[in-house]
Amino acid sequence: MKLSIIGAGYVGLTCGACLAEIGHTVLCVDTDDDRIARLNENDLPIYENGLAELLARNRRANRVAYTANMPSAVRTSDAVILAVGTPSGPDGHVDLSMIEAAARDIAPHLSPDAVVIVKSTVVAGTARRLRELISRERGGRAVEVASNPEFLREGSAVADFMDADRIVIGADDERTLAKMRRLYQPLRRRGVPVIETTTINAELIKYAANAFLAMKIGFINDVADLCEAVRGDVSAVSKGIGLDSRIGPTFLKPGPGYGGSCFPKDTLAFAALGREVNAPQRLVETLTVQNELRKKKLAKRAVDRLGAAQYGDRVAVLGAAFKAGTDDMRGSVALTLVPLLMDAGYRVSIYDPQANRNAAELLPDGDFHDCPYAACKGVEAAFVITDWDAFRSLDIGRLVSVMRGRTIFDFRNLYEPSAFKRHDVDYISIGRAPALGQRRKAAAEAGSGISVSEHV
Ligand code: UDX
Ligand code: UDX
Repeated sequence: MKLSIIGAGYVGLTCGACLAEIGHTVLCVDTDDDRIARLNENDLPIYENGLAELLARNRRANRVAYTANMPSAVRTSDAVILAVGTPSGPDGHVDLSMIEAAARDIAPHLSPDAVVIVKSTVVAGTARRLRELISRERGGRAVEVASNPEFLREGSAVADFMDADRIVIGADDERTLAKMRRLYQPLRRRGVPVIETTTINAELIKYAANAFLAMKIGFINDVADLCEAVRGDVSAVSKGIGLDSRIGPTFLKPGPGYGGSCFPKDTLAFAALGREVNAPQRLVETLTVQNELRKKKLAKRAVDRLGAAQYGDRVAVLGAAFKAGTDDMRGSVALTLVPLLMDAGYRVSIYDPQANRNAAELLPDGDFHDCPYAACKGVEAAFVITDWDAFRSLDIGRLVSVMRGRTIFDFRNLYEPSAFKRHDVDYISIGRAPALGQRRKAAAEAGSGISVSEHV
């Protein structure tokens, strides 16, 4: 099929590359001329594992092209996929202004047999409202609108598309369904399960999935706090419950609170919809408050433990992206922690394998480095806040040798506390007892004020 994808962002580019890979011809469209110009120079505006290679290969095969000329792209397309931003509005409701504008823009150019596919995360009922909006813009000549939410995780988006757990097709009539079946035939042939349902159900599946996944994270983060209070070990508890096939081991890693472009906005939108239709989503309401408070709480407790900086004191923050595998800073705990550290008088060295450029734009007073050891040179303390694999294999001895202080905060439990025993370091992680250095341990045992059960 000939496809246009409106919105060359994290979702639009990944979906475009994968749909080309399974045999379709894709035009990636964006209103941002600079973004299109960079793409035509094979310069991706985002980092996503494997995406650059996939786009380049399909571009060479003439299955992917980039254009800012939306009318000409839409006119020649069998399907037009909307993957524009659907950010949070002021009261948590999803802001549909961009997707409504995109639908209005494409309406006059759609061929009569085209199908519009809503890929962006939108509140239940949006596909039906966009169908009416497009029909009005076309003097009553309606076109079909389908809902096809994505379940892509940044950092593994290509694999999540090609080896999807399921494809959700929301269609409200047989003709639309037939076209959507054609679109995903190659993946269905590979055995990917396909759910065919109404557009409303498809829109609800997306929000309910994200809200539930976020709930698992919020739950294990609360359990981590409980473990700290009773000297438990959240890693053991997470493993113990995760082996129950009804729970499953994924999305049970404790951390500083979920970030990203989706969980924060989608949980707020899900809760707002519930309030609007008098079906309050009380668990998700609580989750949204708890998650943002957690980012502040962990950051503040660490800064309180460090105490105010002496003149010129410096700390290192390893990781800035909201998770490993991406350069995306949206919702990252770095955006809470670094300002708090600076307010306490510290200068902050930052290193992230992929997100330095984006972080420098959002945290301009940070000092950026291109390696973790350079970032930790002369620092009072180091924070590990993003779960990059590169951080799991750090040479602890080398890291400690360049630091001035002896405190390491691990917001991702990347290490075993025992790894710090011979380095006289205070290693403070989440949901586990701190591993105190010998000097501090002796002081603590002598009752000099540091509580051995004290946590970040
Ligand atoms: C977005 C939504 O945030 C997410 O909810 C949805 O599931 C998929 O689309 P993402 O790809 O991360 O996810 O958005 P973003 O990276 O902001 O890219 C959106 C792109 O659309 C931007 O490049 C923007 O320039 C472009 N855009 C926006 C258009 O081309 N036309 C428009 O009318 C509006
Ligand atoms: C999420 C959903 O997983 C995906 O299906 C949807 O399409 C978009 O939103 P994404 O936000 O890219 O994907 O990444 P994800 O891996 O879900 O992580 C989201 C946040 O939760 C990150 O901040 C991550 O660090 C955190 N997280 C994830 C945890 O704290 N613990 C976990 O066990 C898993």
